[in-house]
Amino acid sequence: MTRIVLFENIHASAREVFEAAGFDDITTHASALPPEMLRDELRDADLVGIRSRTHLDGALLADLPQLRAIGCFCIGTNQVDLEAAMMRGMPVFNAPFSNTRSVAEMVLGQAILLLRRIPEKNDRVHHGFWDKTAQGAYEARGKTLGIVGYGNIGSQVGTLAEAVGMRVLFHDIEAKLPLGNARACTTLKQLLAQSDVVTLHVPGGRGTRNIIDAEALAAMRKGAILINASRGTVVDIDALRQALEAGHLSGAAIDVFPTEPKSVDEPLDSPLIGMRNVILTPHIGGSTQESQENIGKEVAEKLVRFIQSGTTKGAVNFPEVPYIEPAGAARILHVHRNLPGAMGTLSSLMAEHGLNIVSQQLQTLGQIGYVVSDVEGKVDDAVMADLRAHPITVRCDLLD
Ligand code: NAI
Repeated sequence: MTRIVLFENIHASAREVFEAAGFDDITTHASALPPEMLRDELRDADLVGIRSRTHLDGALLADLPQLRAIGCFCIGTNQVDLEAAMMRGMPVFNAPFSNTRSVAEMVLGQAILLLRRIPEKNDRVHHGFWDKTAQGAYEARGKTLGIVGYGNIGSQVGTLAEAVGMRVLFHDIEAKLPLGNARACTTLKQLLAQSDVVTLHVPGGRGTRNIIDAEALAAMRKGAILINASRGTVVDIDALRQALEAGHLSGAAIDVFPTEPKSVDEPLDSPLIGMRNVILTPHIGGSTQESQENIGKEVAEKLVRFIQSGTTKGAVNFPEVPYIEPAGAARILHVHRNLPGAMGTLSSLMAEHGLNIVSQQLQTLGQIGYVVSDVEGKVDDAVMADLRAHPITVRCDLLD
């Protein structure tokens, strides 16, 4: 019987996936639990589902030898000690792409609102002013959208923008196949010089730190708009404020900040607060009911595939073994230290117990190797005990 414990109000779509796959021992918690209660609750769990507030550190994982896999029902996985999980043979899954569409829709909406100067007009009307004018207000149709980072989100933004008649340019450090009529720019500068709206969809990290600095902002067209729903570190916010104040840019939408409040009680401190035609949002680009539902489904499906067939495709800390059609009487999942001769040792152990390997798939990652073996023969407790006791073994489980 597989016991599943889900924390932090994970969307009901996850439970639906588990139940459809025949798992019904599912406990759900509306919030995260304090460490001691968490340990007790997970003592006999096979699968755990968490979001960002539940921390699974190495000490806790050491106390949970029966735990088979971890589902992070979100994008980030920093709340889990990934290395410790790997060294205990526990794959960790997340949902990196479930909110792509949500971000893309928000960005297109912001582009249209900013081109019409709606944020500042909205503010004026709320204060009782009736500035009825077409001054500085433009249609999106025919304008040029420059996408920096043409990955999952960037390319979707481009597709949506073409649907409202925008011209789409993109710049990426990797060669990318353009969707629709999008055109690639070799350099960021080329893109900045031609775009009426620039939207950023690059990863965070050193390579993209302040790529939009004073110089890049100066290279943008006069009156252009900047949208950042990627990472706060990508834009030099003080330089952006200056570009807006000077009227070089006509508007901006910022969803991510260099330093973001850690909780709902903490205020945001940003030089952009109170600026005209600037939309500020609390890192909610990907936060929709649909994305929560997609995340619930995507991560639960990955956990089900792992528990039913050993597939680790999409795991963030583990050798990735794709789905393999079952071939023998039983399937053995073996995680071992990634040392020379490990496969030979495993095969000999199986042969000693009269098991005939009919299909075998090995993948390695760093310090561990993961082998999915389909075997003919009787896999009894003695076989499993021997496999588990061998010094190369990190973990060994049987699917039948
Ligand atoms: P992705 O990995 O699919 O795409 C990123 C693209 O940027 C890749 O094609 C990569 O080659 C390119 N790239 C990397 N460095 C570059 C550089 N210096 N110049 C130009 N291109 C560069 O990532 P995805 O899923 O599209 O996410 C993009 C960003 O959106 C990430 O920073 C992610 O954290 C953020 N995000 C924000 C959300 C929100 O709520 N605001 C929600 C989801 C993601």
